[in-house]
Amino acid sequence: MRSSSTLSQALSGTVSAPGDKSISHRSMIFGAMASGTTHVTGLLEGADILSTASVMQALGATITRTGDGAYTIEGCGETGLQSPDVDLDCGNAGTGVRLIMGACAGYKLRATYTGDESLSSRPMNRILDPLRAMGATATAEEGGRLPVILDSDGQLKPLTYTPPVASAQVKSAVLLAAVNTVGVTTITEPIPTRDHTENMLRAFGAKVEVTQKNGANVIRLEGPVTLKGTNVNVPGDPSSAAFMIVAALITPGSDITVENVMMNPTRTGLFDCLTEMGGHVRPTNFRKSGGEVISDIHVKYSKLNGITVPPARAASMIDEYPILAVAAAVAKGTTIMDDIGELRVKESDRIKATVALLAENGVDVTELENGIKVTGGDVAGGGVVVTHHDHRIAMSALILGLVANAPVSIDDGAMIATSFPTFFDVMTELGANVMAGEAR
Ligand code: S3P
Repeated sequence: MRSSSTLSQALSGTVSAPGDKSISHRSMIFGAMASGTTHVTGLLEGADILSTASVMQALGATITRTGDGAYTIEGCGETGLQSPDVDLDCGNAGTGVRLIMGACAGYKLRATYTGDESLSSRPMNRILDPLRAMGATATAEEGGRLPVILDSDGQLKPLTYTPPVASAQVKSAVLLAAVNTVGVTTITEPIPTRDHTENMLRAFGAKVEVTQKNGANVIRLEGPVTLKGTNVNVPGDPSSAAFMIVAALITPGSDITVENVMMNPTRTGLFDCLTEMGGHVRPTNFRKSGGEVISDIHVKYSKLNGITVPPARAASMIDEYPILAVAAAVAKGTTIMDDIGELRVKESDRIKATVALLAENGVDVTELENGIKVTGGDVAGGGVVVTHHDHRIAMSALILGLVANAPVSIDDGAMIATSFPTFFDVMTELGANVMAGEAR
C-alpha cells in the first residue's frame, strides 16, 4: 500500500492516543498465564497485539472480544500454558515473541516460534541466552534468528542476571520465566528501562522488589507466583502520540491536544527533547488510570532549535528517534543523536532507515557509527521512502511530508497497522494531508 503526504495547512483539534502497545501485549500474556478472568479495556487493536492474542489462544487461553478495545481473557492458571499444535506466528512483534518465549520457558512446553521477514531478521539470543542459563533448551537459525524451537521441562533454575543491553524485553522475558521458577531471580539494570512488566506483575498479585544499587535498578522476584486475573485499563501510547505531537510542532499555525497519553517517566524522553528544542509540548490534567499517570498534551506550532540528545535518555525514548529526526530536519541548527546502536536491531536498522528517509527528501543528514546527525532547514521532499516493514519509519516519513515542498511517498503503509491502525483517520481529522494507498 504505497502512501503519501503533502504540504499541510495548520493542524487543529483534540484526538486520543491509541492504546499503549507495550501494555497491550503484556495484558494478553499476563491474562493468559493467570488464574481466573482478566478484563482488558482500551487495548490497542493493532496487528502486533492481535498476533500475541492468537498465540496466547494457541497456548490454551480463551480470549473474547466484547467491544471496541474490550477483551475478556480466561487464563490457564494452575493448568498452565500448553504445548501448541501449531507453530506460533508472532507476526512483526518483537515484544510479543520475546515476552512469550520468556513466559513459555517457565512451563513444561515445547513450541516453534516464527515471524514475518522483519521479525525473522532480529536477534533472539539476547533472551535465549538467559533462558538457556535457567535450563531451557533452544535452537535457532544462524545468529539466533527465528524460527526458534524452545523446549522446557518447566523446572527452571532461578537466575541472577545483568542484561548486556538495556532492554525491557530482555528483563521482561526473564521475569516472566521466573514467575514459574522456584527461588529468587534477580535482574540488575544499570540503565532503567520501561517498567510495565514490574507494574503488571504487581497488579496480578506478585511481589516484585525494586531497589537501587550504585545507580542501577535491582529487581527481585521470588517464584513460583500464582498470578490472579484482574482488570487492565490500557493507557494511551506516548510512542504513537509522538507522531501527532511532532506533526503539530512543525506544521505552521497548528494547535492540537492529544488526550490520554501515558506519562510513565520510563517513556517520556521525547517530550523532554522537544521541550528543550523550544517546542510547546504541555501536559495538563494529570490523573491516574490503570496504575499509570496519564495526561492530555497541548501542542502548538513552535520554532525549534537543534539539540544534543543525552545518551542516558535513550532508554526512555528508544522508539522515538525516527520522529525526533523529523523534528530535527526543520529545527534551526544541528541535532545529534548518538550512542543509539540498539536502533540497528529494531523492526529495521532504524539508523540507516532514518538517514535514508531524510536524505531521500533533501535533508542534511549524516550516519554516525552509532547515531544520526541532522542539520535542519528547508525540506525539499519528493522522495519515495523505503520502509523495510517498519511502522515507525513509515509514519515518520509521512509526517515529514507535511512540511516538505514536494510530496513524500512511502513504498508501503500497511505496516502502520501494527502499532497505530487509526493513523490515517486521526491525522486526517487533525487536517493533515496524508493519503493511504494510491487511490485516495
Ligand atoms: C518494548 C521495549 C523496547 C521497545 C519496544 C517495546 C517493550 O524494546 O523498542 O517497542 O514493550 O518492552 P527493547 O526492550 O528491546 O529496547
